[in-house]
Amino acid sequence: MVDVDSFIDEKIAEISNEVGDANAVIALSGGVDSSTAAALAYEAIGSQLTPVYVDTGLMREGETDQIRDVFDYMDSLRIVDAKDRFLDELEGVTDPEAKRHVIGEQFIREFETVAKDVDADYLVQGTIYPDRIESEGTIKSHHNVGGLPDVVDFEGIVEPMRDLYKDEVREVARELDLEEIIAERMPFPGPGLAVRIIGEVTEEKLDVARMANHVVEDELEEYEPWQALAAVIGKATGVKGDNRVHGWVVSVRSVESRDGMTARAQEIDWETLQRIQSRITGGHDNVARVVYDVTHKPPATIEYE
Ligand code: XMP
Repeated sequence: MVDVDSFIDEKIAEISNEVGDANAVIALSGGVDSSTAAALAYEAIGSQLTPVYVDTGLMREGETDQIRDVFDYMDSLRIVDAKDRFLDELEGVTDPEAKRHVIGEQFIREFETVAKDVDADYLVQGTIYPDRIESEGTIKSHHNVGGLPDVVDFEGIVEPMRDLYKDEVREVARELDLEEIIAERMPFPGPGLAVRIIGEVTEEKLDVARMANHVVEDELEEYEPWQALAAVIGKATGVKGDNRVHGWVVSVRSVESRDGMTARAQEIDWETLQRIQSRITGGHDNVARVVYDVTHKPPATIEYE
């Protein structure tokens, strides 16, 4: 474990030396890695850094407001409302890889617009040690938005946390007073709720996914999962009031893991599962049933697409 105080001092000095009087940008996702990298770089170069948060419309409930609150102290924060553009681009796209691709491309377009606008010479990234190791293999090569360094002709890439593990990043985050909500946050995938929706992403499925993910995170907090989530996996018949409906099936998943590479489905007590079922079926007119996913990774992945 690194000495957190001296790590922070050292990195602040390094970043300000490297960037000098130039401008820099960072894609802020709200995850612990990019948030911590942004906070470190902001300490070093202040408003020469523009943190860019793209609201893709694929975020969890309240997420954009949370980011706005936590990073309110950064004068240069840009929140780009790109919800409609992402939904338009995703219309009719059903293949999982195609969905990821559309989202990645649109993200790059949104980010590029801001990077050019602020005349950024440097790109700050929240890359950590396991990212570098994993990108040498193929398993997670698709995970983080690749291509950013190729978009604008950056003079340099700054990766202050490239040698840290996740728990060390969390310590740095706490030391920088990043609110607990960020420092302790469970991992959330770059393509957001889109990988928790099987098939086409529509506004209705997004509404269901957002509501259900909120219920699951709320109910399963005490189990301290690595990740707890809900996915819209298809349609099935149900009965609501006097009517037979053909509504959404929501799958609930809660896993323990050390690094996301392998995971174990958690055993959840029946009462809690029933409460989750009742809140999710009651939370949207068109949810017909809720199932619990008992599959470990492998053979399943943690996300659904
Ligand atoms: P899977 O679903 O492959 O996920 O078992 C392993 C871990 O990676 C996260 N994940 C992603 N993270 N961009 C990310 O930044 C992505 O595209 C992405 N896909 C999956 C997932 O949430 C889990 O923690």
